[in-house]
Amino acid sequence: MNQRRRRIYEGKAKILYEGPEPGTLIVHYKDDATAHNAQKKAVIEGKGVINNRISELIFNRLNEIGLPTHFIKRLNMREQLIREVEIIPLEVIVRNVAAGTLSKRLGLDEGTVLPRSIIEFCYKNDELGDPLVAEEHVTAFGWATPQELDDIMALSIRINDFLSGLFLGIGIKLVDFKLEFGRLFENDTVRVVLADEISPDSCRLWDLQTSDKLDKDRFRRDLGGLVEAYQEVARRLGILTESNNGERSKPVLVKSD
Ligand code: CDP
Repeated sequence: MNQRRRRIYEGKAKILYEGPEPGTLIVHYKDDATAHNAQKKAVIEGKGVINNRISELIFNRLNEIGLPTHFIKRLNMREQLIREVEIIPLEVIVRNVAAGTLSKRLGLDEGTVLPRSIIEFCYKNDELGDPLVAEEHVTAFGWATPQELDDIMALSIRINDFLSGLFLGIGIKLVDFKLEFGRLFENDTVRVVLADEISPDSCRLWDLQTSDKLDKDRFRRDLGGLVEAYQEVARRLGILTESNNGERSKPVLVKSD
């Protein structure tokens, strides 16, 4: 692709380049997979392409319901055009069902339905391993203002309701997921918008019937079949894909933009 464009940042699964216009960036989805704060690494061919498509579909839907996001449009197989935002250094975890670190921390069986949806905050800092923090830390250390935190919680609840319904409709349970938010500066105003990605890399998705894991836990727990699982999510979401199980004879084309 364009050799001259400036690389702004390279993360674990994505690269950011400067965009065609001021205030825009291009995000490139890599095939790299990491887990346990990058102690475990692999390249999983095709993962970036599928995540780009799944995240595009979800961000388009969220934009359509008036939820503010950084997403503008998908550019090609691996890249999206996004608005430049100042990332708020929090990983916002929304949980509906106990799994992962919550199960470990509180001794809850994985799969236990939570009494209500729970929002947790982790301080985004790789050196510290993204520690769990309380709202008090967030405001005391100025990572976000109380107003921004209110906005983040309200947006997270809306996103959870919307995504839970979206996935339920295609036979998938949304167990938990991670969100990141950013500050979008426009003229003299600043507002909180959804940033980063939403994909099986950042969600726990279980098949409603079989409880099969259709997310990054396949990599974290060495279950194999990660790309096939992500393809299954994409197929159920109606994203154009060649079937990989031979059940369909031709690709299914569904509106993409
Ligand atoms: O994923 P892990 O068990 O390490 O941590 P968790 O707190 O149980 O993760 C909750 C949800 O957030 C899962 O869907 C993870 O995939 C997602 N997450 C993420 O996308 N990135 C992180 N750095 C941490 C969690």
